[in-house]
Amino acid sequence: MAASEGGKLWGGRFVGDTDPVMEKFNASIAYDQRMWDADIRGSKAYVKALEKAKLVTTEEMTAISQGLDQVSDEWSRGVFMIKPGDEDIHTANERRLKELIGAPAGKLHTGRSRNDQVVTDMRLWLRNAISTLTENALQLISTLVERAAACPLVSSVTCFFLREIDVLFPGYTHMQRAQPIRWSHWILSHAVALSRDVDQLQEIKKRVDVLPLGSGAIAGTPFDIDRELLRKELDFNGISLNSMDATGQRDFVVEFLFWASLCLTHLSKMAEDLMLYSTKEFSFIALSDAYSTGSSLMPQKKNADSLELIRSKAGRVFGRCAGFMMTLKGLPSTYNKDLQEDKEAMFDCYDTVLAVLQVTTGVMSTLKINQSVMEAALSPDMLATDLAYYLVRKGMPFREAHGMSGKAVFIAESRNLALNQLTVEDLSAISPLFGGDVSSVWDYSSSVEQYSAPGGTAKSSVAAQVEHLRTWLKAQAQ
Ligand code: ARG
Repeated sequence: MAASEGGKLWGGRFVGDTDPVMEKFNASIAYDQRMWDADIRGSKAYVKALEKAKLVTTEEMTAISQGLDQVSDEWSRGVFMIKPGDEDIHTANERRLKELIGAPAGKLHTGRSRNDQVVTDMRLWLRNAISTLTENALQLISTLVERAAACPLVSSVTCFFLREIDVLFPGYTHMQRAQPIRWSHWILSHAVALSRDVDQLQEIKKRVDVLPLGSGAIAGTPFDIDRELLRKELDFNGISLNSMDATGQRDFVVEFLFWASLCLTHLSKMAEDLMLYSTKEFSFIALSDAYSTGSSLMPQKKNADSLELIRSKAGRVFGRCAGFMMTLKGLPSTYNKDLQEDKEAMFDCYDTVLAVLQVTTGVMSTLKINQSVMEAALSPDMLATDLAYYLVRKGMPFREAHGMSGKAVFIAESRNLALNQLTVEDLSAISPLFGGDVSSVWDYSSSVEQYSAPGGTAKSSVAAQVEHLRTWLKAQAQ
């Protein structure tokens, strides 16, 4: 059978059949069917513009629109039959429309190309996807903030005894013990990063929210297609300015892929911290069984698979981002089939980020902390900075005080003593400014309370961060 008889949208000028391997290679229906709803919405808007331009009659418009509703109904009930030759979602929907309503279906594509159609579908789809991701990210942030503020909502038993904002533990830089911090300060550090992700996603959404339909294949549309009508129908914020750019660019996809990469980089950092904290050696936290798995060989194992997978997904989405950037590099202007690669990257990053946000929310709302172990892990050497600040408060320049405290650390280490085991005599041999009141330095609670400037780990400052994020969350909900 000649290709022209095979029902292909573009079969007219062909006499030979497509090689079956090529057919499969070329088709995107396996994955772009996810955009069935966007594709139908775009077509329903487009037929209105066609009617306004008198390219279809009112009756034809009604027939097309009702036919499209039927196609939509088949998709939503899961009974739409994909047939051989349905190259992509656009082809499949039009083929089915023709089966349902006959001849008028052939008018739907007047002045439209799959080049402006596909990118319209993608923008509609991604706009929706961004809303879902935003909701899920906000859910995670709110879980973090409320946990930092008080106690996990789920652990009703510990709740009465344990306010997590009061729990101290070691903060690390270079993975070395640095300074005592509040556990809630650690939690909020990740909530803040995620709040930036949400802000950035809203910025990206503005650039997704631009209508390309009416750009045709490359040159625009020669018909009286009212693009403003299309914009309103599809609730876009603006209209693309140049048809060549509109059909040939995927900046919004790249931005989204980069966003996914950065967001998951943030969550991989958080997962890595938690993984360390959950080891037997640290035992700061215990993951819920709901987010752990066992070993098929070693009965004692409780593996933090949820955290490992969260960590791993950053690599996966960045791979998608880098891969698609490589696809774009060196492409000539306007639509090239290479652009079809945009979809799997976009869908996969969406699915991956959504799953990670949901699992992370689960992990963070169910893990238990081990306050006594966390606080026992604090050691006087982590107060060496405070020892220097003690001298600063007595008038010594910080650089000099740093050196004096360093000497104290050295002496304590060489005598195999903890820093706070040095006597006042030992210390005053280092600097006469050391006096009996130096004992006040060796208190972890008063140490963290010094950090009360905005952004610090003092209780008032952590509480202020909680309030700031709560207000921010409320504003996002509107
Ligand atoms: N499936 C195609 C894609 O995803 C639709 C656009 C096809 N356009 C074309 N000129 N062949 O990019």
